Amino acid sequence: MVDIAIMGYGVVGSGVAEIITTHTQSLKKRAKEEINIKYILDIRDFPGNPLEDKFTKNFSDILNDDDVKVVVEVMGGLNPAYDYVKQCLEKGKSVVTSNKELVATKGAQLLQIARDKNVNFLFEASVGGGIPIIRPMSQCLAANDVIEIEGILNGTTNFILTKMIRDNMSFEDALSLAQSLGYAEKDPTADVEGYDALRKICILASLAYGKHVYPDGIHTEGISKITLDDVSYAEAWGGVIKLIGSVKKLDDGRLDIFVAPMILSKHNQLASVDDVFNGIMVKGDSTGDVVFYGKGAGKMPTASAVVADVIDCIKHFKARKYLYWADGDNSEYILPYGESVCAMYVRVKYADGVDIHSVVDDIFGGAQFINKQNPVENEAAFITNKMTVDHFHSLAEMLECNDVKIESQIRMGEE
Ligand code: HSE
Repeated sequence: MVDIAIMGYGVVGSGVAEIITTHTQSLKKRAKEEINIKYILDIRDFPGNPLEDKFTKNFSDILNDDDVKVVVEVMGGLNPAYDYVKQCLEKGKSVVTSNKELVATKGAQLLQIARDKNVNFLFEASVGGGIPIIRPMSQCLAANDVIEIEGILNGTTNFILTKMIRDNMSFEDALSLAQSLGYAEKDPTADVEGYDALRKICILASLAYGKHVYPDGIHTEGISKITLDDVSYAEAWGGVIKLIGSVKKLDDGRLDIFVAPMILSKHNQLASVDDVFNGIMVKGDSTGDVVFYGKGAGKMPTASAVVADVIDCIKHFKARKYLYWADGDNSEYILPYGESVCAMYVRVKYADGVDIHSVVDDIFGGAQFINKQNPVENEAAFITNKMTVDHFHSLAEMLECNDVKIESQIRMGEE
């Protein structure tokens, strides 16, 4: 029998406890050991809970119990999660986490401690909820050089955008629904403004390129400025708006990495990834495109990935799993966002008397206007040629000197 502890009894923690207590026999077969939850750490009380006798408010109960070999951290946030996880690893306990913020900001340090102590630090559930992605990338795709990763990495925003696109639902109503379904972070700003997707693309980039990619300073846009007008212009063009985390290795070795809403052609493999589902496309030099698809948020999908990592820890007490990336410095390998190249969708309002087609043509030569049913007076939308983001901004400034106001601008995906 192996004793484990769960730190945090929220949505994911309670799901982990549920899987372990309801699948006892099948987990025993797979882990070759019975998994026993010895402690659950939470500051709250859970009177009447069937696991009531396991609860503790004292982290040192877990830290100082040498029988506890695997600790599950599902508290979320950096503090006190980082301190607790670090101490557990230093004490020689393996740690499993679903905490994206922890892995994205402290992954290199924690992986180094795990390596030094010959224990495991596993985090399959930190990206893509129930979708296997960390293990396939570090093992099955290990013979590839990863050229590019593009993903819908946040279930909450994908759910919101889907409701806006399909049901014309307002942003606020769709967010409330996502929260009530347990998809959103405690503070949904992290979902809506793209920080959650940023942490996930940083984890995948670190894994793919072997150097820690820190979230700080990486261009991040969320979906809070997306309107139903943009949704309908995208539809008229033949596309959909998705929040995308993207990283591409350039010929000079630098990484073009960002999170932003993008208009994807309906032919793009990610365009039909809807609701709370995530989709992650990994382009390897040998494999070409490999696409991972599944539920990216929610109690049971995420908990299942956590429990799978617990099993892996138990099976690898003696032979540590190889999962590692080195520390690094973003300034040495991240492309400044202004140098990133893309075509841009632009929606404008203009004053009476402005000949918008000729103004746009003069400034953005070759832009393609989008015609939609029920055109709005003094409003137009167009798609630019590909250019650097910095060049786009300088042309956008010139446009605004012509009695034209830019209402929105959204990156176009690759065809
Ligand atoms: N809030 C996250 C999401 C949870 O919506 O994707 C899973 O990481």
